[in-house]
Amino acid sequence: MSFLRSDLPALSNKYYFNYGGQGPLPKSSLDAITNSWIKIQSLGPFTNNVWPYISAEVTQTKGIIAKFCGVSIKRVCLTENVTSGCVLPLWGLPFSNGDRILISDCEHPGIVSACQELARRFNLEIDILKVQLIREGGVDEQNKINSLVIKNLEKELKSRTKLVVISHLLWNTGAIMPIGLISEILSNHNNQPFLLVDAAQSFGQIPIKEAATKADIYAFTGHKWAFGPEGLGGVILSERVLEEATPTIIGWKSLVHEGSINKENTNPFHSDARRFEVATSCTPLLAGLRCSMELLINEGNEIERIQKIKFLSYKLWEELSKIKTLNLILKGPPSSGIISFTFNSKIRPAEVVNLLGKESVWIRALEDPVWLRACVHITTTEDEIQTLVSTLRAITT
Ligand SMILES: Cc1ncc(COP(=O)(O)O)c(C=O)c1O
Repeated sequence: MSFLRSDLPALSNKYYFNYGGQGPLPKSSLDAITNSWIKIQSLGPFTNNVWPYISAEVTQTKGIIAKFCGVSIKRVCLTENVTSGCVLPLWGLPFSNGDRILISDCEHPGIVSACQELARRFNLEIDILKVQLIREGGVDEQNKINSLVIKNLEKELKSRTKLVVISHLLWNTGAIMPIGLISEILSNHNNQPFLLVDAAQSFGQIPIKEAATKADIYAFTGHKWAFGPEGLGGVILSERVLEEATPTIIGWKSLVHEGSINKENTNPFHSDARRFEVATSCTPLLAGLRCSMELLINEGNEIERIQKIKFLSYKLWEELSKIKTLNLILKGPPSSGIISFTFNSKIRPAEVVNLLGKESVWIRALEDPVWLRACVHITTTEDEIQTLVSTLRAITT
């Protein structure tokens, strides 16, 4: 058994398939958080003795994130979650009346509603990039998916498109979007739209360096596929966003010197990604996320990890395809650890979740579209997959 698996108390008494909602927290990470909290109290929570410790914690955490994403540390902004990583820079982009936002039809409600409100306040138009109906699967799937996405993108881009919003890995179908190709097309567009990428499902699951480097805004959280604690995420910002976007929810962390506010200074903000950071946050979580990311990295490099995930999701996909009353959303084996499906019978997804939960098997129901979603990670076992399949079979036939 992998060390990571044995270090996850949440997996000892249940069959867990909700990594896309929240990953389980390793015991070692919980200990790292507690120890950091104790250290802060022993140094004194607001003393000259604690500042070097806090500053080293932030630098080390940004360092591991920067390396994980293949970017320089100055592009890393720490946030609480994916949504704030998306919306903090979103509101600071230089929009003009009549600009357009192109948003995929698979985005999370929080980001969709932020874009809608932004459009309402600043007189922007919203266009929809259709990707939900792309259901390819199988050996050559990625090339086909890429060309379908690019075809739809080229159809929907308008001369006034100023921003494209898309997830790296779609949270409902589990398809991987070609962020590198999309960014190439946008850089050749007359209006050079910004590219905002929701990395909720990709960070910790699939290789992300190319996408994190090429997107203008690449927002992630530690608490899903990276096994981190809830309450700590981040966003990678491009040089262009750092130069052209203005800070939004401004606080003392955005400032170079707190003392500069009463002096004549038209630009008191950090020039790096800290310009989007706000104020006091939970320092002990930093040690927890670092510990989780180190445990994840110790399980294999990013290619080895996604290969293991795909091996497991193939098993699950194959077993689920044998259940006659079940419809898999993808037409072929998945390229990620996310598998969605529905049932022919009248049983509602929420009811399926309840019935499985009674057997300590946890998947989730999606609201729009109304599907069921099961996720496998490197810590999933083949026995767990068998249990999920046999329990599903038992409750639905
Ligand atoms: C694709 C996607 N975006 C955003 C979110 C919201 O995440 P958070 O609560 O970290 O902002 C989720 C959560 O499930 C998600 O799947």
